[in-house]
Amino acid sequence: MSMELPIPAALMPRHVAIIMDGNGRWAKAHGMPRAWGHRQGVVALEPIISLCGAWGIEALTLFAFSTENWARPKDEVAQLMGLIVEFFNKKIDELDQKGVCIRMLGDLAGVPQVQRETARQAMERTKNNAGLKLNIALNYGGRQEIVRAAQRLAAKCASGEMTPEDIGETAFEGELYTSGLPMVDLLIRTSGEERLSNFLLYQCAYAEFVFVKENWPDFSPAVFAAALDAYARRDRRFGKV
Ligand code: IPE
Ligand code: IPE
Ligand code: MG
Repeated sequence: MSMELPIPAALMPRHVAIIMDGNGRWAKAHGMPRAWGHRQGVVALEPIISLCGAWGIEALTLFAFSTENWARPKDEVAQLMGLIVEFFNKKIDELDQKGVCIRMLGDLAGVPQVQRETARQAMERTKNNAGLKLNIALNYGGRQEIVRAAQRLAAKCASGEMTPEDIGETAFEGELYTSGLPMVDLLIRTSGEERLSNFLLYQCAYAEFVFVKENWPDFSPAVFAAALDAYARRDRRFGKV
């Protein structure tokens, strides 16, 4: 794996978000159960996290489990939840050593206690780390996040802590799970699907979208480098001429 920058440092996105999709199709194509695809998905993830740190990307946000994914068969939900804990147990020492700062995005109160506790410990242990900001979206839904922010602002208004006139983009963004992070520059989705599936609706307002055909377990450093190259070639106008 080459640590060499695939694009000039000045063109690197500050915040990359990834919808890791296609584990099930990957497993099916290999004649294996879906759970095997999820397991290989975790294997594919490890070098990508390292490269983000090595390439000076400030924040990496991964879609691990959506508010809609509870509708999957019970055993698949259990396998995905099991992998979350396994990932942290196996990787937390190394991530901490590399200076990775972990944040969970989503409604943690709605996940089983062992996942919630493992995630909380990982956040607590790495909260002062100054390296890559690794955000893991677990039981995350973009609409839920926006509604929650509205509720939190309404509560502050009701308590007299603020008034409706104080609500601007800065105040609103402060109530999102991504508070303090830059907006998403580059959104990557694997497996050929071209939709947002309720991920980071607010934060992707001006993101560049790169859709790649590879299923997530085949998302190699070379595919990642190609996605960054595609991003670097985009002309980000932000409404200007
Ligand atoms: C992505 O792969 C992993 C999660 C959604 C957690 P999928 O499980 O969605 O794989 P496909 O889309 O069915 O192939
Ligand atoms: C999005 O993928 C969620 C995650 C990658 C965690 P899905 O596979 O659940 O999305 P849809 O159902 O194709 O929209
Ligand atoms: Mg999918």
